[in-house]
Amino acid sequence: MTKILVLYYSRTGFTRTIARQIAGACSADLEPIEDVTGRNHAGGYVRSAIEAALHVATPIRPAKHVPSDYDIVVIGTPIWCGNVASPVRSYLKRQRRQFHRVAFFCSYGGSGHAKVLRDLESLCGRPAVATLAVADADVTGESFRDRLSEFTDALKDSDRSYWRPGRGERTFDTSTIGL
Ligand SMILES: Cc1cc2nc3c(=O)[nH]c(=O)nc-3n(C[C@H](O)[C@H](O)[C@H](O)COP(=O)(O)O)c2cc1C
Repeated sequence: MTKILVLYYSRTGFTRTIARQIAGACSADLEPIEDVTGRNHAGGYVRSAIEAALHVATPIRPAKHVPSDYDIVVIGTPIWCGNVASPVRSYLKRQRRQFHRVAFFCSYGGSGHAKVLRDLESLCGRPAVATLAVADADVTGESFRDRLSEFTDALKDSDRSYWRPGRGERTFDTSTIGL
């Protein structure tokens, strides 16, 4: 059975909801990426916007799971100012050398998901076996359930030999995204 770890950051709960459903459908381990300093206070929105826009890697708590123990690491982020959320950027900066296969999902209010999913590939230095983008308005909808099933089926079916360093299927320019 494919061993899967689902990692996510969530400030207001949308990404957490999606992460829990993915983990439940795949019998995956689940881990939130946690800020050292919370951002649910008055200045939290502004701080999040600035960090995301400037590609800041903010302080986060130590990871609990070892990514290299998993066949697939699934990473979820909310979109902040058209970018990956800063705590997710921090996590990827620390851990990306420990990934085998990766998959991504993002939650968003209105737009920007195609770019953020591409940025996640660049930050990890490898293509995703599957991606999923969910608008806040769709998190409880019928179409989300169908797309969630497609996403989790792709994770469960993906072959272990999908990607190995050095195969050179695609190249990623990390210089444009702050690594
Ligand atoms: C600082 C900040 C910036 C945001 N920028 C965008 C954006 O550029 N595009 C978008 O579609 N949604 C944007 N959003 C909305 C969030 O991506 C969306 O509500 C997401 O589902 C929140 O996830 P969470 O509840 O897991 O924190 C922004 C939210 C915050 C807090």
